[in-house]
This record gives sequence, structure tokens and C-alpha cells, in this order.
Amino acid sequence: MKKLYPESGVELTPFISKYYDNLLNLISFGKYERFIRRAIADMNINPDDEILDFGCGTGKNSCLMMQYLSDEGTITGLDISEIMERQYNEKCKNYPQAKFIRQRIDIPFDPEHLYDKVFISFVLHGFPQEVREQIIANAFAHLKPGGTFNILDFAEFDMKKMPVYYRLPFKWGECPYAFAFIERDLKEMLRKAGFNSFEEKLYFHNYARLMIARKP
Ligand SMILES: C[S@@+](CC[C@H](N)C(=O)[O-])C[C@H]1O[C@@H](n2cnc3c(N)ncnc32)[C@H](O)[C@@H]1O
Repeated sequence: MKKLYPESGVELTPFISKYYDNLLNLISFGKYERFIRRAIADMNINPDDEILDFGCGTGKNSCLMMQYLSDEGTITGLDISEIMERQYNEKCKNYPQAKFIRQRIDIPFDPEHLYDKVFISFVLHGFPQEVREQIIANAFAHLKPGGTFNILDFAEFDMKKMPVYYRLPFKWGECPYAFAFIERDLKEMLRKAGFNSFEEKLYFHNYARLMIARKP
């Protein structure tokens, strides 16, 4: 598949898409799984929540979120990748309330249904700023009043102050959009889109953050 944004690190190659979960576990020395479980626990998922997972990838996160839901709750994963779609359907096959839709999240799309939560994990940083703003607007449009946008991604930090053993992998592994993202005020972006109340949790020596932004 041709990249829409040539410098993006979140439009993955077929190889990375196929082995995404294993690669993350490998480069994080097995810490990624525990981190993602903690962040999902911090989202305060209600048993009957209807959740949209933007750029859902392999379905690993959707399956973890399913564990907090009753039969009333649902998860809808959106992604552009056929390889991710196959993995999602296989991983979530025991959860009839989890479904995958092939949908770009970087363009406006019809909010046929309103959700309690929109979740986006390590996707937002990988786009130009105007595209990030469109993704945030899409999340806002798809939420019920009082619903929350849960953004798990890099926090704001100064790359120059990172210890070298974190700085080098970040510099080599991430894309130029990520370098710009860590210098941006995410709360300000969300406020501009209409969100008005915020809660933040920090992880991985404060380099990763879950931002929970509420729609009025
Ligand atoms: C870095 S991965 C993160 C996957 C997952 N959120 C996670 O945390 O494991 C980025 C994901 O975003 C998807 N993606 C990239 N561009 C997209 C777009 N424009 N619309 C929807 N999904 C997109 C990719 O296919 C990939 O699955």
C-alpha cells in the first residue's frame, strides 16, 4: 500500500504490520504488555461503554479493553491495513461485540453512531499537524456529550534532555512528525477542538502519557 504521508512512521510496512506486537515486546524488553494493560486500566472503562479504537492495529488493545465490558459494551476498531484487519479478526474472534471496519481516520467520516469513548494508541504523533487536528475533530464528532477521547501516545518532552539510551532508539525508530509532536501542547490542541476537561497519567519515565479529554 502506498503511503499517504511519506514521512509517517505509523503507516506501517507489511512486515512491521505482520509482526507488530512481537516487535514491540522485543524492543521494550517485554515491558510493553504491562504498560498497555496499566494504561487501559487507567481509562476507567464502564461495562456498557461503546468504544471506538482509532488505528486499532492487531486488536491487542481492543481485546484488553473487552475484558472490562459486559455484553452491553462494544468495541469498533478502525484501521486502513488489510494485514491488521486479518489479525484483529483472529485475535478478537471470541468477542462478538468487537468488530473491525476498514476506515481512514485522517479524513472526515460520517458519525453514524455516537460513542462513549474514542481510544487512540500511538497513532496521533505520526501525522502532520493539520491531519492530527482532523483526527481530533473526528474523535469529537463521534463522541456522545460527556464522552471521552483517550489518547495514549508520547508525552511532551525535550529530546535533548533524554538519556542517550532512550534518545538513540527514539531518534532512530521514530519519524519527523513524532519529533514535532513531543514539542506540541496536546491539551491546547484538544481545547481548540472543543474538549473542556482533562486528566493525565504518565508512564515510562514520563515519556508516554494517557490524556483523557472530555466532550462537554
Ligand atoms: C503504530 S500502529 C499502532 C497500532 C495500535 N493502535 C497499537 O497501539 O497497538 C499505527 C496503526 O495506525 C494505522 N493507521 C495508519 N494510518 C491510518 C489512517 N490514516 N487511518 C486509520 N488507521 C491508520 C496503521 O495501519 C497501524 O495499525
